[in-house]
Amino acid sequence: MDIQIIDIPKIKNANGNIGVIENDVVPFDIKRVYYLYDVPSSAKRGGHAHKKLQQLLVALSGSFDVVLKDGTGKQIITLNKPDKALLITSNIWRELENFSSGAVCMVIASEVYEEEDYIRDYESFLEYVKINK
Ligand code: TYD
Repeated sequence: MDIQIIDIPKIKNANGNIGVIENDVVPFDIKRVYYLYDVPSSAKRGGHAHKKLQQLLVALSGSFDVVLKDGTGKQIITLNKPDKALLITSNIWRELENFSSGAVCMVIASEVYEEEDYIRDYESFLEYVKINK
């Protein structure tokens, strides 16, 4: 699986850093930003794929694991740095788990929210990737 981690440019300062995400570091036009917070450590989020939407995930605070499946392989990526973004392209099944206390997952997405773009059933996802290879 072709997993891409993108470095988020930062402005370093003894009084704290600034991470800056402009369109030129993102491989799509940004249409939406949302974030997960107050996630219980036992919770599993995600559990779906997208037909069209691409997204970048950033652990703004704390850490969590992202389980990625493309229909043949599986990878687990731990996100725990606010200057690293994980790119998830379309047609990838993702699950987010092992959230640390206080973890915040920011998501930068290529599309506005559209339920029709989700594949929420794993068997349907496997069928979908087989047909859309
Ligand atoms: P979902 O994307 O399934 O959450 P996660 O992948 O983090 O587990 O979304 C959970 C619910 O929130 C679902 O009913 C759709 C709704 N939702 C919106 O209405 N707008 C949004 O931008 C997002 C991300 C979710």
